[in-house]
Amino acid sequence: MFRTRPEARPATVEVMVEGRPVWVPEGASAAAAVLLAGLPSIRETAISGSPRAPYCMMGVCFDCLAVIDGVTNRQACMVAVTPGMRIERQGGARGVAP
Ligand code: FES
Repeated sequence: MFRTRPEARPATVEVMVEGRPVWVPEGASAAAAVLLAGLPSIRETAISGSPRAPYCMMGVCFDCLAVIDGVTNRQACMVAVTPGMRIERQGGARGVAP
């Protein structure tokens, strides 16, 4: 019924989610990339280890904490994708720098 005009389609960028290439619309968040990759969760809680996935997509719930380009505890929903970005799952509490 509705069709997107070819010139209206957003450009896409390639990011790596858990080592797998995923094409994401330019300007989308890293959390959107995780959801597009089909991961069931992005992190486990520090205490119980229960799985979490992006939920609010607006920086409120912190269920999207991930390792982005080697930096832990990034709110994936608040970070726009860039070409070649590496997004990885975060397990438990983040490490503390010495
Ligand atoms: S999804 Fe809720 S803070 Fe990112």
